[in-house]
Amino acid sequence: MKLKKWIFVLCSFLASFFLVACQSSSSSSQSTVEAIKQKGKLVVATSPDYAPFEFQALVDGKNQVVGADIDMAQAIADELGVKLEVSSMSFDNVLTSLQTGKADLAIAGISATEEREEVFDFSIPYYENKISFLIRKTDHEKYKDLDSLASANIAAQKGTVPESMVKEQLPKAQLTSLTNMGEAVNELQSGKVDAVHMDEPVALSYATKNADLAVATVSLTMKEGEENAVAIKKGNSDLKEVVDKVIQKLKDDGTYQTYLEKAAKLTEVEQKKITEAGTKVLASQLSLDYQARRSG
Ligand code: ARG
Repeated sequence: MKLKKWIFVLCSFLASFFLVACQSSSSSSQSTVEAIKQKGKLVVATSPDYAPFEFQALVDGKNQVVGADIDMAQAIADELGVKLEVSSMSFDNVLTSLQTGKADLAIAGISATEEREEVFDFSIPYYENKISFLIRKTDHEKYKDLDSLASANIAAQKGTVPESMVKEQLPKAQLTSLTNMGEAVNELQSGKVDAVHMDEPVALSYATKNADLAVATVSLTMKEGEENAVAIKKGNSDLKEVVDKVIQKLKDDGTYQTYLEKAAKLTEVEQKKITEAGTKVLASQLSLDYQARRSG
């Protein structure tokens, strides 16, 4: 009788222990997605200075953050059944916002490097990148090989892979690290720097929109496996599962590609200002020409 009692006590103790263990493990693995659903919104950190991935454009008369990464973020929010909240900041703050809990995801054309993988989890890759130099068109012949860039003044965005590549592979170059990509491109156009190092689609986008700029033929060596991916706080595996599922689909059916094409057609706010100013200059020139012809 005594033994039976002991077995009963032991069994019920084990059972309750098992129950508690199960409960706590299931609540911790579900917590992220559940918490997002409860909040009703997915907060995505980005640095909107990187067309076609993320940038600002006038949509329906309003200045909005748009781009292929933002469309992807929207698809993830849709899958979760919540609203998307885009939180804009400079690139060097994007990843840390995951640690401080200010954002659920970081999507900003982020290369999944080994170093970053130690601190953050990454989704499956969604875009395979190259990194290139944006230069002034007039320098196209000048910067054809790495020797010609060895002692050049090169700008890059703070905290990025293109920045560390310049540090490592062109140690004698003068590096100008800037928080904002647009600022770096302005420095290039005004002649303060000789080249800006950035992801190739972004360089191509600047070159297409600015007749004075071009993408150099020479490039530095990229490490393998550093494709663009979505960064997630370490251990949020249930959220990663949802993100991976969405990305796989967007890649398989070519939707991410259509997002990029759509982004290429949108005009950036800054660019629009330039175009407007350009149009005004052109218009005043035309009218001067007209007046000159009339009076002459
Ligand atoms: N791919 C580069 C990196 O991860 C640059 C990303 C910069 N992104 C941006 N939105 N400004 O370091």
